[in-house]
Amino acid sequence: MSRAFRNRIPFLLVGIAISALFFHTFPIVADSSEPSATLPTRRVLLEDSSYATKATSKPDVVRVPGGVKGRRKRIVVTGGAGFVGSHLVDRLIERGDSVIVIDNMFTGRKENVLHHLRNPNFELIRHDVVEPILLEVYGDPLQHPQVETYWGNVNPIGVRSCYDEGKRVAETLSMDYHRGAGIEVRIARIFNTYGPRMSIDDGRVVSNFVAQALRKEPMTVYGDGKQTRSFQFVSDLVEGLMRLMEGDHVGPFNLGNPGEFTMLELAQVVQETIDKNAKIEFRPNTEDDPHKRKPDISKAKELLGWQPTVSLREGLPRMVSDFRQRLFGDSKGSLDGSLSAE
Ligand SMILES: NC(=O)c1ccc[n+]([C@@H]2O[C@H](COP(=O)([O-])OP(=O)(O)OC[C@H]3O[C@@H](n4cnc5c(N)ncnc54)[C@H](O)[C@@H]3O)[C@@H](O)[C@H]2O)c1
Repeated sequence: MSRAFRNRIPFLLVGIAISALFFHTFPIVADSSEPSATLPTRRVLLEDSSYATKATSKPDVVRVPGGVKGRRKRIVVTGGAGFVGSHLVDRLIERGDSVIVIDNMFTGRKENVLHHLRNPNFELIRHDVVEPILLEVYGDPLQHPQVETYWGNVNPIGVRSCYDEGKRVAETLSMDYHRGAGIEVRIARIFNTYGPRMSIDDGRVVSNFVAQALRKEPMTVYGDGKQTRSFQFVSDLVEGLMRLMEGDHVGPFNLGNPGEFTMLELAQVVQETIDKNAKIEFRPNTEDDPHKRKPDISKAKELLGWQPTVSLREGLPRMVSDFRQRLFGDSKGSLDGSLSAE
């Protein structure tokens, strides 16, 4: 990247997603009518015009002030038509930011952001940012619960490794840019999250059980059902991401609910919430399925003042009404899955 190019309007890139949330300064061509042509493989782009002035006088290190507190921002959210991204967009719009969503609609849905389409502070761009990474850095952890200093236990050639290693390399690259180019980054390690707007058939356990119970199908439990997971409601995650974005700490931070459930306990909560007669069907487990995953969130509590507030028994009914609405057109559900509308 040439210095002259770098001296153009700098942008601050915020990465949500997966396990990585990073802030990046990013040069963009002067023609703002074609922002998508210049987008890199990152998740959220933040523009702060006051920063643009400062940065031009310091051409070599494209750096932004720690945190992004205060003023109204123009923010690009990649994957913003997805489950987590769309709830983050709601929060940003709600507080007065101007938001551009870039999403290739691979798993995202226009319906998730439909309620913003007439808002002049909102723009949706269908575009592929070519980000190949998905899930978790800890793999099948040997330490329980997982603290951020734990390096994980990942089989590099297993069926799940493209997810786990993808997350890990995202963190590595973020930190390299941070150390090498002085770019502000933030890293979040997101644990299982559920809530309204979740993909109905994406194979995640909560959406599987809820959709199956609503459709009167048996809930499929893989293995003996004794493997544990923690489930965080999406509004808790969004609050954590906002605090991380606004704070001065790079992370990584575990963002998850430390409450631990076995798959069988989860199935029981779904039975209590939807249908006490819902059946359970056991299937052979998938290779490399982590036995336990539970975040240690002491660091986020201490440095971000964050912890989840919504229990599974409180959150699940809010997701169920959204699923009912989408599966059966039941008008009792919130029409756009907004958390504030429920
Ligand atoms: N939901 C969870 O439990 C959970 C847990 C851990 C990590 N995460 C991570 O959080 C992030 C968001 O998860 P989610 O549950 O909202 O998933 P999602 O599938 O609902 O959202 C992902 C969004 O990114 C879009 N997208 C994918 N590839 C793209 C590309 N190349 N260019 C542009 N857009 C693209 C999709 O269309 C979708 O809208 C993911 O990275 C996921 O791995 C989620």
